[in-house]
Parts: sequence; C-alpha cells; structure tokens
Amino acid sequence: MDKLVINGGKQLEGTISVSGSKNATLPIAVAASILGDGSSVIHNVPDLRDVETLCAVLEVLGAGTKFKDSTLHIAPRNEIAFEAPYDLVRKMRASIYVLGPLLARLGRAKVSFPGGCAIGPRPIDLHIKGLEHLGAKIEIKEGYIIAQADRLIGTEIDLSGIHGPSVGATANVMMGATLARGTTTIRNAAREPHVSDLANFLNAMGADIDGIGTSVLKIHGVKQLRGTEYSIVPDDIETGTFMVAAAITGGDVFVKNAVPENLEAVSEKLTETGVQLNWTDDGVRVRIRGELRAIDLRTEPFPGFPTDMQAQMMGLLSVIPGISVITEAVHTDRFMHVAELNRMGADIRVRGHSATVHGVSKLSGAPIMVSDLRAGAVLVLAGMAAAGQTVVSRVYHIDRGYERIEKKLTGIGADIVRVVD
Ligand code: EPZ
Repeated sequence: MDKLVINGGKQLEGTISVSGSKNATLPIAVAASILGDGSSVIHNVPDLRDVETLCAVLEVLGAGTKFKDSTLHIAPRNEIAFEAPYDLVRKMRASIYVLGPLLARLGRAKVSFPGGCAIGPRPIDLHIKGLEHLGAKIEIKEGYIIAQADRLIGTEIDLSGIHGPSVGATANVMMGATLARGTTTIRNAAREPHVSDLANFLNAMGADIDGIGTSVLKIHGVKQLRGTEYSIVPDDIETGTFMVAAAITGGDVFVKNAVPENLEAVSEKLTETGVQLNWTDDGVRVRIRGELRAIDLRTEPFPGFPTDMQAQMMGLLSVIPGISVITEAVHTDRFMHVAELNRMGADIRVRGHSATVHGVSKLSGAPIMVSDLRAGAVLVLAGMAAAGQTVVSRVYHIDRGYERIEKKLTGIGADIVRVVD
C-alpha cells in the first residue's frame, strides 16, 4: 500500500491544471456503454482508480473500454448483461448508475445493493422511487435490487429527499427516462455541474432533455441513442482543493481550467476568509495578502457549498485564528477527518452535524491514516501546511478521485514523495 511522505512548510507557487470531473465521468461512461448504439469517444477523462473500477463493471456488462491519454473509447457490444454482481459493485457505490440504463435498454436489471461507506449511510430509496414512478417493478432480494419493466413510461417525479435533491437518483432516473415512452418531468432535480454534464452528454447522444442546470428537468423520451464524441467538464472539487492548497500554504497559485460558475459558493467562502481570487478566461489566481478570518459555513446541494469541499475547507479554517462553525447538511456524519486533523494539532470539536473549529497557529506533521477520498485530500493539505513531516497511509482512497496528486502539487513547489511499500 502506497504512502505519501510530505515535508510541510513550502509555499506553493506556479500553475496547476485541473483534470476532468470524476463524478461526471462515471455516469457518462455508463450511459455510453449501456444506452448508446455505437461507439463513443470521451475526452478529458481523469486517470483515476474509480474510472478503472467502473470500466471493469462495464466490461462485465458487455462494453469494450480503452483508456489512453485522457481519452476513453467505449464500444458497446451487441449483448449486454443485465446483472452487476456484488464483487464489482461493492468496490464502488457509483455502480448503482447502471440500474436506470439497464432497465431502459433491456427491461430488466439485477444490481447488487450498495452498502454504506466511510462517510455515513447512503440510502438509495430515491433511485428506487424514481424508477418505480417510471413503471418499473422493483424488489430487494438476497442483497440485490431486481428490477423489471416492459417499457419505462414518462411521468412526473419529485426527487427531493430529507437532505435535499439526490445527485445519483437524478442521474439514474434521467438516464432511464431518455428511452422511456413520453415525457418525464423531474422536480427538485439535483443541479450539480456533473449532473448537467451528464445531461449535455445524453443530448449529444440524441436525447431530448430541457431545463439543464435547473431543478426541473424535462426528458422527452426518444427511440434510440447513438454513440458520440464528448469532452468532460473540469472537476470542480479538484479545483476547489487546489484553491485551498494555495491558501493554506500562503502561496500564489494559478488554477488552470477552473470554471467560475461551478465554484461560486466555494469562491464566496474563500473570499469571506480574505483569500484573494482573480478570475481570468482560463482559470483563477489564488493568493494571500494579510490575515485571514474565521467564518461559518453550511454544506448544501448545488448551488450551495459542496459537501465534497467541507473537509478541505475545515483544514484551512483549522489554521485561521478565531472560531469557525461548519455544519454538514448533506452527508451529515461526514467528519471522519476530524480525528486525524486533531492528531496534527488542530482543535476541532464535533457535536451532532456541526464542527466547531478553534483556529490554531500551526499544525504539526504526524503519521496519519486516510478514511475516505475527501478526508485524504484535507490530510494532504494539512501536511503541506504543517511543520515537519507527515506520512499519509491508505493513499488508495485519494487515488480514487485525484489524478497523480503528488505529481501535480510537487509541480508547484510541494515536497511530497510517494513511497511504494
Ligand atoms: C454524489 O453522491 C457524489 N458521488 C458524492 O461525491 C457527493 O458527495 C454527493 O453526490 C453529494 O453531492 C458521485 O457523484 C459519484 P446524493 P450520491 O444521492 O449521488 C441522501 C465524492 O467525494 N439520499 O446526492 O450518492 C444521501 O444520504 C463523493 O466525490 C437519500 O436519502 O449522493 C445524502 O444525504 C462522495 N436517498 C443526500 O441524499 C437516496 O436515494 C445526497 O446524496 C439518495 C440519497
């Protein structure tokens, strides 16, 4: 298992480039493999463990996949299997994305029920409710979701849950509805940039989706979708992570390929702390001038502050004098990173769904262990800001969602070495 050895205290300077969005790539690769007639060529695909895992699932279902130089070629075969077994689904929750497309294409699907994960319980009731509204009969049996429908039929569906709209349910139902008979209206649809990117991809395949980027999506069913060529949107969470990297090290960094409209909430909160942001046509310059201020923040579905940036922002706030309060309203138990940050000298107290961060003047390097992807991101950020050496283990969590993180950060002055055990 790889480790990252980080010698902290280096100010980051220079230009760092953002790769394609992980959370857009996953459903887009599923759509291309199951819904399309003919091959697709997808550019700006990040080289990530999650993409590799998903391709293994798609190969089992019957798509040929080839990944080279950020381009993923997908060639659906004539026969598509309808079962996604436990051994594959357990490796990645996003495998649930095959449910809607398999139902739409084959009229049946058998997909292993994904479990919880390190960021708390993650139910799929909204996925099931949405597909049932489209006419599917669904039962849960022996750990599998078994779904059947002669033909999905367009209808009106409200997809808001107790924690707001669901990204995954919106994507699953939208993909299913592309080939349904008639029009499907999804109310309270998730509006995250990767949901919009999926909708744009489906339209490029011949789907007919209106309202992209809003909370009401209208999907007019079509008879057939075809393969297409497409380029994935830059990753907003990788962008935000690099913006915080610049701020936490007191650096001066240009984050290239940053898309301003996908980062408004993150930019607003960074600006509130006093971080200087200068947006240009192809990215954002991030630097520090003077003292930073403690702030409060609450995660919310897009366009609110993203849960996937909560940990990274907590890392920054942990070294800003004063008291900041962070409320996690999406994945309400997502505080696994707090214990490790406290081991590095942070002073963070969790109560219910909120964390109170008492800013300290400095973190100190320590051996630490990663519990999930974004916890991994903040521990790398904290290691770069800390005095002394930090050794990060269980790096595979980080490799799920960040492309060559140590290589990119070393390119702008970080001192990070990957050690292969
Ligand atoms: C997506 O997960 C992302 N994953 C997550 O990113 C992200 O944290 C999350 O959206 C929220 O933005 C991918 O895109 C692959 P949800 P998803 O359904 O779709 C509740 C990362 O770090 N809910 O929008 O699984 C749920 O428990 C990952 O890159 C239900 O109650 O999230 C949560 O509280 C981690 N019932 C809230 O809704 C359901 O049927 C939002 O979850 C579905 C969800």
